[in-house]
Amino acid sequence: MDQALLLIHNELLGTDLSVYWNSERCYHCLLQVLVNVSGNGKPGKPSIAAVAVSTQHGSILQLNDTSEEKEVCRLEYKFGEFGNYSLLVKHVHNGVNEIACDVVVNENPVDSNLPVSIAFLVGVAVVVAVCFLRFLLSLDDFNNWISKAINSRETDRLINSELGSPSRAGQLGDDTRPEAWRPSAVPLRLRCVDTFRGIALILMVFVNYGGGKYWYFKHSSWNGLTVADLVFPWFVFIMGSSIFLSMTSILQRGCSKFRLLGKITWRSFLLICIGIFIVNPNYCLGPLSWDKVRIPGVLQRLGVTYFKFGM
Ligand SMILES: *[C@@H]1O[C@H](CO)[C@@H](O)[C@H](O)[C@H]1NC(C)=O
Repeated sequence: MDQALLLIHNELLGTDLSVYWNSERCYHCLLQVLVNVSGNGKPGKPSIAAVAVSTQHGSILQLNDTSEEKEVCRLEYKFGEFGNYSLLVKHVHNGVNEIACDVVVNENPVDSNLPVSIAFLVGVAVVVAVCFLRFLLSLDDFNNWISKAINSRETDRLINSELGSPSRAGQLGDDTRPEAWRPSAVPLRLRCVDTFRGIALILMVFVNYGGGKYWYFKHSSWNGLTVADLVFPWFVFIMGSSIFLSMTSILQRGCSKFRLLGKITWRSFLLICIGIFIVNPNYCLGPLSWDKVRIPGVLQRLGVTYFKFGM
């Protein structure tokens, strides 16, 4: 996965080539030796070396003359997943004797982002469908039509014969109204915090289970920012806003500040303990080991932050 085939054709007779590679994403990294291609091919039959190149980010390729350690050419290219490419190194005779390095696509790559795009589109389609249904249910005409359809004699008879409930017809008309089942007791701003929390949770589970091996669902190693890096800050943000909301309402209900502080301290303590003793990296492997315990773990950080927020 995330690889492409690169065939390097060395058409410079008598010149051995060393090929170096680096990822565009790697900040100030040294070039790595990729392969050596000998120059002892025959005219019309160059020597070819086959290598696998990473397709996650753009690649930097540099070809050196092995004997003189002189740069022959250098190019940047973004290979696509499962593509088959050829890099042709040859002389071009246009007056001066120059060396050209050209990338030729033998087989087109596949679109590795296709599954993500499809999942995203399906999600958008579901959201649009739910919104549309809600909109329909909020229309009086549509409701009347539904209640008429449900209350029609035919359905009534069917319902009665299957469920044996004779006094159904009168209630249904009112029950299908959206106001009846909408949880209007929850204030709107809490609901949006809950939605955000849900999104962050889904993302967290997805990221923790490998994120489909896409680079943008993995934590960036040092430089850069990916979706995976945003999950923890989002949780901290959610925690901060929920603390503000819940504390204002608790204080309004006349709870003493002292008791609140006790509550917060207890919760932070629990979070830190769970982080240290339960979400220990060795939890799955056996009993807690002190050599490998991670004191600044995720839950511990959340606990400390919670305490700090609470103050
Ligand atoms: C890649 O393309 C070259 C040139 O068309 C072909 O000879 C080779 O068999 C292809 N390799 C694969 C794995 O498809």
